[in-house]
Amino acid sequence: MSTEQIAVESLTEEDAASELERLAREIARNDALYHGKDAPDISDADYDALKRRNDAIEARFPSLIRPDSPSRHVGAAPSETFAPVVHARPMLSLDNTFSQEDVQDFVAGVYRFLGRLPDQSIVFTAEPKIDGLSMSIRYENGRMVSAATRGDGTTGENVTANIRTIKEIPQVLPKGVPSVVEVRGEVYMAKSDFLALNAQMEAEGKQTYVNPRNTAAGSLRQLDPKVTASRKLKFFAYAWGEMSDMPADSQYDMVRMFKDWGFPVNPLMKRLNSVADILSHYDEIGLKRPGLDYDIDGVVYKVDSLELQARLGFRSRSPRWATAHKFPAEQAFTTVENIDIQVGRTGALTPVARLTPITVGGVVVTNATLHNADYIKGIGNSGERIREDDHDIRIGDTVIVQRAGDVIPQVLDVVMEKRAPGAKPYEFPTVCPVCGSHAVREKNEKTGKLDSVTRCTGGFICRAQATEHLKHFVSRNAFDIEGLGTKQVDFFFENDDPALQIRTAPDIFTLEERQAGSLTKLENIDGFGKVSVAKLYAAISERRRIALHRFIYALGIRHVGETTAKLLARSYGNYEAFEAGMKEAATLAGDAWNDLNAIEGIGEIMARAIVEFYKEPRNTEVITRLLGQVTPLEAEKPTTAGSPVAGKTVVFTGSLEKFTRDEAKARAEGLGAKVAGSVSKNTDIVVAGPGAGSKLDKARELGVQTMDEDEWLALIGG
Ligand code: IVH
Repeated sequence: MSTEQIAVESLTEEDAASELERLAREIARNDALYHGKDAPDISDADYDALKRRNDAIEARFPSLIRPDSPSRHVGAAPSETFAPVVHARPMLSLDNTFSQEDVQDFVAGVYRFLGRLPDQSIVFTAEPKIDGLSMSIRYENGRMVSAATRGDGTTGENVTANIRTIKEIPQVLPKGVPSVVEVRGEVYMAKSDFLALNAQMEAEGKQTYVNPRNTAAGSLRQLDPKVTASRKLKFFAYAWGEMSDMPADSQYDMVRMFKDWGFPVNPLMKRLNSVADILSHYDEIGLKRPGLDYDIDGVVYKVDSLELQARLGFRSRSPRWATAHKFPAEQAFTTVENIDIQVGRTGALTPVARLTPITVGGVVVTNATLHNADYIKGIGNSGERIREDDHDIRIGDTVIVQRAGDVIPQVLDVVMEKRAPGAKPYEFPTVCPVCGSHAVREKNEKTGKLDSVTRCTGGFICRAQATEHLKHFVSRNAFDIEGLGTKQVDFFFENDDPALQIRTAPDIFTLEERQAGSLTKLENIDGFGKVSVAKLYAAISERRRIALHRFIYALGIRHVGETTAKLLARSYGNYEAFEAGMKEAATLAGDAWNDLNAIEGIGEIMARAIVEFYKEPRNTEVITRLLGQVTPLEAEKPTTAGSPVAGKTVVFTGSLEKFTRDEAKARAEGLGAKVAGSVSKNTDIVVAGPGAGSKLDKARELGVQTMDEDEWLALIGG
């Protein structure tokens, strides 16, 4: 009788060991078939039976649990979250260098550390720095047993099931490899696959992704490996962790060995032995960069000899034998397909270049702001020239686009040789493209110069200004009404049915009431439905009480951002005092005007804008109606003296019924407490509303004080 047919209870230890080995092989083979392009050759039920048998044998013989046991890694049945994996060797990061001098210093430092003279040449490798996610893949006896993300360098996440879906990564290594092999490298998404994925998302009307790196990261963190499999991730091997045996004695030969074992390795890696050669390879890779199908953000230099690497060792988190020479902000060529004008909340006409999509610095760029009429002409805000030879930007032009970090893409320059012979200068509109009112450039009262912004004079009659106002009103840092996004605001604004219309902010709060008396039901309209309508009403009514600074910010007063709104709220304490003060300041003189200007952080331009806002009867009329619907709360008093919770760390969890989360947070912070998102041993109080789950459990486990909302209110004085 073969071991497979013996009942678990009857297995001898020897049989059990060989049976566990067989099960590991069989399950791994089916995992591979499942995640690869072929279909598994056993049914799900049979597969589950194999796993159950494996678990039962392991329960009986815990000492026989294999390192590659199917129970040890996320297999076909992914767990709710990714299990932590402690790296056998930490995964380090690299120091960055930005200039030729930095590179010279790095090389000189290596020579100095090793006590070598410049004529005792040290060989370096140079290879692209791939902009993806680092991964450590462990093989035992030639088989993949686990794969983990870098995490914090010490502990990563077990993403084995997902890594198994990457066809480029071998599941099994050739015979004769060391018994323990940890191959490290970068998982990435090709630019072409990223663009194709985004095109598909767009065609399906779904949200597109920002850049290949984030998409690759998101794809790896899928609990369902089938999703990962559909994303076409790729891999380059360039480093290693634990190795039971070293098959080579240099960086270069190690990577070549990985290639022989079936791993993809980057073809641009080179061995070099002088700073001059290193720098010229850097330039060469830089030139190739736009044409590569993957994002890179620099070139990594490593001391080639592993013996020297060992002597050089590490600083706290990075090796002394390597550095990453970063590229400057990336630029790319593309064409201006059109110039559109967007009309903002304050009526500003902003020209936007619609570009042929291109990836720049790892992000797909399709638009670039052209700021204003002067910018298009090549003139900066202070009248300075911003482009060589005063190049203006015209529709059809080939342009150089630059993106640095998270900064909005800029059109740097125009490739004049490529300009079409008939291309005409762009004519900036003199009327608002939305409402047809005159669009003018105001004179700056202080300098007497023309303002760079062209503004629609339509005010409230301009649909763009009105809808942008509403969008601002419901936005995250203002009223933050979930379920009222751009699309919904446009829908309610355009609607002619009085029971469905939202033209000004107070209309938001009368919607439910107007709906109650109407036959045209929102829930019957495409895109809404019963549940989402109920949620929308709940979200709206939750905001009937609102923090004062949010209320002020939501009014959309020119120059009044979140910070200014907070200053105003804190200074005036309540809305009535604020409005009265602004009205009294109407003459731009007197105590009220002086009080406003005395607030640290409020300048004259802002002060004027606020006072002007309150002079417009249309604004005060809307505010009066709004105050009939919502109550701005008193601002927190800045003092925390005598507060029972000052200095304490508080976590709110569960669904709060007595106050909104933001309110609770602001209130607690006002009393000098710190509000945290997760429970740890540093937490002092956990306030749990109904339905609280894991955070409450954790608090109990850690012996942290817990209370319900009423107890919290009693503690802080109601
Ligand atoms: S070597 C001990 N080589 O860059 C050094 N890293 O900033 C191990 N990276 O976490 C890293 N391409 O994710 C190395 N050719 C390359 C690389 C590379 C990209 C990433 C890696 C690492 C980060 C450090």
